[in-house]
Parts: sequence; C-alpha cells; structure tokens
Amino acid sequence: MATATARPPVLFSPACERNKQPICELLRQWLPQGGRVLEIGSGSGQHAEFFCQQLSGLDWQPSELGDTLADLSQRINAAKASGELASVLEEPLEIDVDKPEQWPSQPYDAVFSANTTHIMAATSVPHLLAGAARVLKPGGLLLLYGPFLDGCLPSSVSNRDFDACLRQRNPAMGLRDARQIERQAASVGLRPLADLAMPAHNRTLILGRDPAHGQCPPGLALPISLPCL
Ligand SMILES: C[S@@+](CC[C@H](N)C(=O)[O-])C[C@H]1O[C@@H](n2cnc3c(N)ncnc32)[C@H](O)[C@@H]1O
Repeated sequence: MATATARPPVLFSPACERNKQPICELLRQWLPQGGRVLEIGSGSGQHAEFFCQQLSGLDWQPSELGDTLADLSQRINAAKASGELASVLEEPLEIDVDKPEQWPSQPYDAVFSANTTHIMAATSVPHLLAGAARVLKPGGLLLLYGPFLDGCLPSSVSNRDFDACLRQRNPAMGLRDARQIERQAASVGLRPLADLAMPAHNRTLILGRDPAHGQCPPGLALPISLPCL
C-alpha cells in the first residue's frame, strides 16, 4: 500500500504563484542582508515560504487575522519541516492592523504586505501605515505590493473592473490611491522612495522610515478624509 507522503492540503492562491517570482526579485534588491521582515496579511503563506526558500539570511515573520491564522500556520509548519528554507521562517503572529496591541514591539528592517490594502477596510489602511512606522527601525522599509489607483484613477481596464467588483462585494473594499497612501504615510514619518511597476498592472510602493521623524504613539488615529481611499 502506498504511504501518504504528500503535505496536508493547505490554502492555495493561484495569483501568488504568478507574482511570487517578480516580487522576490524586487525583495532581493531592496531588503538588507540579514534583515528582519514583518509580513502583514500573509494569507496562504505561499509568499513567505517562497521568499524564505529563495532569499538567504532573512528572518521572516508572517502574520494573519485570527480566523485565518490556523490555515497559515499549516503551510508555515510544513515549510519549516521541509528543510528547504534558506532564511528563518517564524511562527505566524495574529495581527489585525486595527489592533495596536497585536503589533510586535521589536524593531524590523522591513514590513511587507501584498494585496491587502484593497481588501482591508479603507479605514484600516492608515492603521497599517502607522503600525509599520512604529515597528520599523529608522531607515526601515515598508513595501506594499498590489493594484493601486493613481490620482484616484485606475491604471488599466482590469484594475477598474476589479475595483468595481470589490466595491460591489463589500463597499469597505476597493483599490486605494497610491498618492493618498504616500501622503498619509508622510504624516507618520514614512517617505516615498519608489513606485515600481510590476506585471499585470500591479505596483510596489516602497516607503522608508524617516530617521528624523519621532515615534508614533500606539493607537494614533489618522484623519480619513480622502475620497477615493
Ligand atoms: C487578498 S489576501 C492577500 C494574501 C496574501 N498576502 C497574498 O498576496 O496572497 C488579503 C489579506 O489581507 C488580510 N487582511 C484583511 N484585513 C486585515 C487587517 N485588518 N489586518 C491584517 N490583515 C488583514 C486578509 O486576512 C487576507 O489574508
């Protein structure tokens, strides 16, 4: 009788399979050697697993909301047991960006988040920015990958349709405007460093924590007054 050697079924995102390689190449260029990285909204964990296979010497901390944490942990545990990792992959943390007490206290070299700003409520995006600013070392990087609006306009027909589809499903969802994110980020001490085009009309926004900016207190409420955020 055949012995079952396959991994247990885990959450799987086809989009992650398509975008993980280009994102990985970008991270290779931007992340510091030996950097500690906090990932927000790790989802299926495919990105965390792949990046820890491909990039060496990092310490990668995945995280998710409480209700999906167990699914994420399943993949992370399997990846850790595989012996195929070139970086340290940490046990996932429960982090809802809206809950300052769930954010870790230790400093990170980078915060990475893919495809989350259009899924989390518009009111959560400032909390993501403020939380990242709090945990980043001076000079640390926030990297946001996904589809974004530009000056409140979609950059492609597919992004326009995706935005409409999201807002119909849940009015709290929708593509966020890259320029508005940059303006809000500036108010918590994150300076825009790059806005890089990625395949399939996606982008990576890279923001750096300004060493001259003071620390943001936890729970800081930022104004949400921007029409297309
Ligand atoms: C489309 S999935 C992206 C998952 C993964 N990063 C990827 O690229 O496949 C959006 C993720 O955002 C997470 N998310 C939504 N609201 C959040 C919040 N308030 N705090 C943290 N994560 C949140 C969801 O749990 C989900 O995993």
